Amino acid sequence: MVFNFKKLASIATLVTVMSTLCTYPSPVAASPLVPRAQCAATLSTAASVGSRLQSKYWNGSGWGIFWTDANTIEDFYNLMLADGSTTFDVADNTRIGQLALQQDRNAWISALNGSNDDAGWIVLSLWKVADYRSTHGQNAAPYLNSASIVYDLIAAEWDDSVCGGGVWWSSAHTYKNAITNELFLYISASGYNRFGNANYLANAKKTWNWLLNSGIRNSQGLWNDGLTSSCANNGQTTWIYNQGVIASGLGALYKATGDSSLITQAETTLDATINHLTVNGILKESCDNANPTSTCDNDQAMFKGIWMKHLQFYLDNVPDRVSKYQSFIGAQESAVVHYGTGSGWTVGNVWYAPSNGGSLFTAETQTSGLAAHVSAAKYGPC
Ligand SMILES: *[C@@H]1O[C@H](CO)[C@@H](O)[C@H](O)[C@H]1NC(C)=O
Ligand SMILES: *[C@@H]1O[C@H](CO)[C@@H](O)[C@H](O)[C@H]1NC(C)=O
Repeated sequence: MVFNFKKLASIATLVTVMSTLCTYPSPVAASPLVPRAQCAATLSTAASVGSRLQSKYWNGSGWGIFWTDANTIEDFYNLMLADGSTTFDVADNTRIGQLALQQDRNAWISALNGSNDDAGWIVLSLWKVADYRSTHGQNAAPYLNSASIVYDLIAAEWDDSVCGGGVWWSSAHTYKNAITNELFLYISASGYNRFGNANYLANAKKTWNWLLNSGIRNSQGLWNDGLTSSCANNGQTTWIYNQGVIASGLGALYKATGDSSLITQAETTLDATINHLTVNGILKESCDNANPTSTCDNDQAMFKGIWMKHLQFYLDNVPDRVSKYQSFIGAQESAVVHYGTGSGWTVGNVWYAPSNGGSLFTAETQTSGLAAHVSAAKYGPC
């Protein structure tokens, strides 16, 4: 297979040129109550990708696996908050939604099965559905109450006795890793920004202090997966989602504290992602492979979209940084459309090479594409 990188480069150039021609609407402060002014064409693409996600993968209670479903819910409600639609309001039918409506701590404990990173994604999905319900005059309380229950379960998994702190990855208490703690940073800081709960702010500060000194970030500015049993960086894969969730967490903590050094810390990692985890300016996970085929599992296949979503969440809190990332966001979205998308709006995981060569097509790759479009509708060129 011959890769047409020149075509991709010209897409990226076109995006850059277009971004200088279009006037981007000034960012609106994040508010769950007001639909945001966004790029209509990109939102329309997102809706097409979302429709395909429903027609191909929805089984009446979910799409993929438990934690990826949390992200799928979040992406659908993020889209509906952006475009004012109600088409994908299916959360109540999902397993996560059913648990949310029960508001039962023991049911959550059983469903989470000790997985503290899954729990972090779930808190985010519950808050997004709550935002949607508030926007539509519906009762958000079950979702907010459940988010509070799950948050407290994660917070109780903080441990000072091994590696100086951090939340355990799971209740097996064998591993401390980046994603669990990045998510706890983000939900703690953004939870404080939502509710003004001082306990959440204290958790955010202690989590960032721990992450900063943990050694999990390498000399390139990228976060490896986690720590060895002797508390050293384990050198495992710098998965792309780890480079995005840290930024949303730091953006939210910046919003809470006004400490601008947090912006520098966030962008050290965002810029390292752009410099080291791309091919021709397009995100490439290590398991993405155009020829012959990708080896990503159902977790990994979703990570690039999560990076795009968390860059969106970062920019929500630091709107004066939008111009720095706008053309990169636009280039990703363009690559998803022109390279990653197959027939009937199916989206694969290979964004960086043409004709969706080597792509897997799953609920997770489809959701990842959806997240890229929703992010670009808000902060890409139009
Ligand atoms: C539907 O998908 C979910 C995962 O999202 C799975 O847990 C459930 O078992 C599936 N239901 C059916 C009826 O296949
Ligand atoms: C729950 O976690 C245990 C320990 O990690 C694992 O062996 C088991 O398969 C999990 N159960 C489910 C339903 O995921």
